[in-house]
Amino acid sequence: MNEVSRRKVLIAGGALGAAGALGGMAPAAARPAWTWAATSSLAGSGRGIDPQWVWDEEVDALMAAVIDRGDVPLVNQHLAGWSRNDQPVPSGLPADVRAWMERARQLPDWADHGKLRAAARFNESRGILLNLCNGPGGGMLSTAIPREARAVYYSKGGADMEDRVAKTSILGFSVGDLNAYEPDGDCIVQAVKTRMVHASVRHLLPQSPHWEGTSGGQKIPISIADVLVTWHSLPTWTMKKLREWRVRLTTEESEGYLHSWQVTAHLLGVPDEYIPSSWDAANTQYTQLFEPVLGPTPEGVILTDILLGQLAEQTSPFSVSRPLVDALARFLVGDRIADWDGIDREPLWEGAIRAAWPAFIALREGAIKLPLVPRLAWTIDEIARAYLMFYLTKGKGTVISIPDRNRTF
Ligand code: HEM
Repeated sequence: MNEVSRRKVLIAGGALGAAGALGGMAPAAARPAWTWAATSSLAGSGRGIDPQWVWDEEVDALMAAVIDRGDVPLVNQHLAGWSRNDQPVPSGLPADVRAWMERARQLPDWADHGKLRAAARFNESRGILLNLCNGPGGGMLSTAIPREARAVYYSKGGADMEDRVAKTSILGFSVGDLNAYEPDGDCIVQAVKTRMVHASVRHLLPQSPHWEGTSGGQKIPISIADVLVTWHSLPTWTMKKLREWRVRLTTEESEGYLHSWQVTAHLLGVPDEYIPSSWDAANTQYTQLFEPVLGPTPEGVILTDILLGQLAEQTSPFSVSRPLVDALARFLVGDRIADWDGIDREPLWEGAIRAAWPAFIALREGAIKLPLVPRLAWTIDEIARAYLMFYLTKGKGTVISIPDRNRTF
């Protein structure tokens, strides 16, 4: 652990003490009873089971078998070449894996291509705000979700956070792509691969003594409730931010944006009975599921430090310094979460960002009404994404792949 991280962990210890959560237990254990009504879901009804006790039974068993019989290298070899929605599932995959993927890649019958096209237009015009919220914003939230921070920290990918961020960004960028769910897009592919990775982690992490010691009693990670928590840190939280910043959205835009994330949740294995059918339903679920589980962990503080360090390095050619990155992160997630994440205070930059932000939003919102500007803004965002992926993968590129072990220390 480097010196900065060591200092951050001490801060984290203080934060945990303040939260009365010492001893490996984070506030995540204090989940309120599940009362969210399945009538507000896409399915319209449900079994009434708390999603804390639901995982992804079929693929969990499948990936456990793949790992135990030593098929991970074979599966990864074939998954690496599977990159477009319209591409057949690779024939070299084991038959049981292929059969499951054939079913898992199907869009739900409620998927609405008109809404998905509206989402694409929304992504084109507001790409930079969405990327800020889903990238640095979502990243800083994820490290304040104790179960997620710990799962990431103790899983294989936790050892190489640059590669891990690049891999996670593959899906994040893919959801926002203009052709995300079109035949030549790749969101179906990336979501199905991610579902397989999560299933593998459910088999592997319980074998990690490090994870077991900090899981707060959870025996199998990444329950459907956990997936929903992370899901809310993406579209629901982002929509709240856009409203807070007074970004004017049409109903078509906000409905389209929600829809693209509903489809993504389905492809990630969330049963339709838990997927909110409207923004109201999403906000109610957010209050019940997301807010109560946030809190500080030493792992989250270390991951935050690594993530912000990376962001400062990536943006340094544009004269963006670590203090500015820290201030921007704090501005995005607010003081409570920033303190839990151990983000340093930068009063000068914080004041400057607070003062400049309304003008930045007004400028962008005014500018997108001009001809060609949405396309131009999208192109700039595309370049930024390509740069980010190139930087994070040291020019080699990366693909989402199945882990075969936990992080070793
Ligand atoms: C892997 C996205 C929920 C823990 C991944 C990957 C993506 C992703 C794209 C593949 C990249 C990689 O292998 O690193 C998402 C999305 C979620 C979600 C969009 C919800 C909407 C969660 C939750 C947890 C979690 C709730 C834990 C509580 C992990 C772990 C890995 C992973 C441990 C594997 C890292 C490794 O390979 O070692 N996730 N995730 N994820 N995710 Fe998630």
